Amino acid sequence: MSDDYVRIFDTTLRDGEQSPGATMTPDEKLRLARKLDGMGVDVIEAGFPAASPGELRSVARVAELCERAEVAALCRTREGDIKAAWEGVKGARRPRLHVFIATSDIHLEHKLRMTREQVLAEIERGVSLCRSLCDVVEFSAEDATRSDLGFLCEAFATAVRCGASVVNVPDTVGYTMPHEYDRIIRAVCETVGPEVIVSTHCHNDLGLAVANSLAAIRAGARQIEGCINGIGERAGNASIEEVVMALRTRRELMGIETRIDTTQLLSASRMVRDVTGLTVQPNKAIVGRNAFAHEAGIHQHGVLANTLTYEIMRPEDVGWNDSNLVLGKHSGKHALQARLEELGFRLDKEELARVFDRFKRLCDRKKVIYDEDLLSIVSGGEDRERRYQLGDVMFQSGTSVLPTATVVVHVDGAPKRAASTGDGPVAALLEAIKQATGTRDVVLEDYHLDAVTGGTDAQGKVHVRIRVDDVVAHGQGTHTDVVVASGEAFVDALDQLAFLQARLAEVGQVGDPEVAAASHGV
Ligand code: KIV
Ligand code: ZN
Repeated sequence: MSDDYVRIFDTTLRDGEQSPGATMTPDEKLRLARKLDGMGVDVIEAGFPAASPGELRSVARVAELCERAEVAALCRTREGDIKAAWEGVKGARRPRLHVFIATSDIHLEHKLRMTREQVLAEIERGVSLCRSLCDVVEFSAEDATRSDLGFLCEAFATAVRCGASVVNVPDTVGYTMPHEYDRIIRAVCETVGPEVIVSTHCHNDLGLAVANSLAAIRAGARQIEGCINGIGERAGNASIEEVVMALRTRRELMGIETRIDTTQLLSASRMVRDVTGLTVQPNKAIVGRNAFAHEAGIHQHGVLANTLTYEIMRPEDVGWNDSNLVLGKHSGKHALQARLEELGFRLDKEELARVFDRFKRLCDRKKVIYDEDLLSIVSGGEDRERRYQLGDVMFQSGTSVLPTATVVVHVDGAPKRAASTGDGPVAALLEAIKQATGTRDVVLEDYHLDAVTGGTDAQGKVHVRIRVDDVVAHGQGTHTDVVVASGEAFVDALDQLAFLQARLAEVGQVGDPEVAAASHGV
């Protein structure tokens, strides 16, 4: 295999987690890291260990788990950051330290309050310390695209002299344009020479992150940093699936590819969606629900005659195939195992048999088994006694009545009834459930409604995320009536919350935010 290929540096676990509302538990990060490692990502940025002891532990777990990918930890040039980062990745088969400092005058003046000379001295000190600990050091010049090009090149030359073998040119604020980035990357390549890998890290504030990354490859960059589904700080980072498929689809033009197993792109996207709760827009390239759906008659006709008429990629090449179908009572052990593997679980024979048994029992109660159900089955959630169960629901709403709901919730088997009004029937029902269960302190943090299938008989699938103090729980409900689905989801989340609180109390860790943040994993 040629050594001239584009390395994919995935920062979903670090920059991606900086997306508002996208916190992941340590177990979720592990699952995602296993997926990224398995699909051929070259470098996984596991986190920023100086942020907290919990973050350091989570990075260390990812470092130990990854079999083939390099595992990177981010740090500033400060000694404390660098030591924490090294603590995080030193157990990896292939560790990398990723050290950064800003180089633009705006950052120097207003954030760092340093002169250019001081920044160069920091780079020298920071990169040298990193290099004394770790063989592979990547240096990033934050806000590179708004930096003076001469000074930027000087910064990179210093980093390389002190041992950096990868230099990253972040478009931190998503400001650059493809032809401008081309010029910057060419200058950096010229400065650092062919032995050093030049990397991109493009934010998407102007919607140009992927275009800029591709322009950089043409200019000589050989590493692309990005996130699955393009998540990340503010408008996000370059979307890995888009970069990978652009290179693959236009390989004759671009002349270079990645080593990603593209058939795993869709399942990776779904995993990121599920663990972050950030939904994927239907028209999102490659992984959006409509990315390969042909609605217009003329398109359908053409595609039926020959897919080449309107399709530039084969859907199966990015993972759209039968295995994306939901599971149900006719699904066998193999289908279950394949789906679990896509979700990042590798079970041994006995575990699989146990999970399959629970799966079959759940199929007797539910027609369609979703990924969330599988997660619950694998974590043993389905076997436990349920504290709360939704009973009868009644509601009225309309243009001329005050929305009102009455509900019965079984709490430890005893029926509790309550009624409430609200801005709409869902709000009224959730309020009534809170009253019936005595859970008024629960905060609804997130609510999503999706149609599971098309048509007017579609089932509504509702996801909710709730929180009390530091404990977070998720719930889901599916029903042809979206108000009932909302009630089911809320009660499901309350039940998970009660379970988590009880487990945390058992291990005496209620109130420890890190344990609480790991609520899925208890
Ligand atoms: O956007 C940015 O500049 C970063 C760096 C820390 C690489 O995320
Ligand atoms: Zn960034």
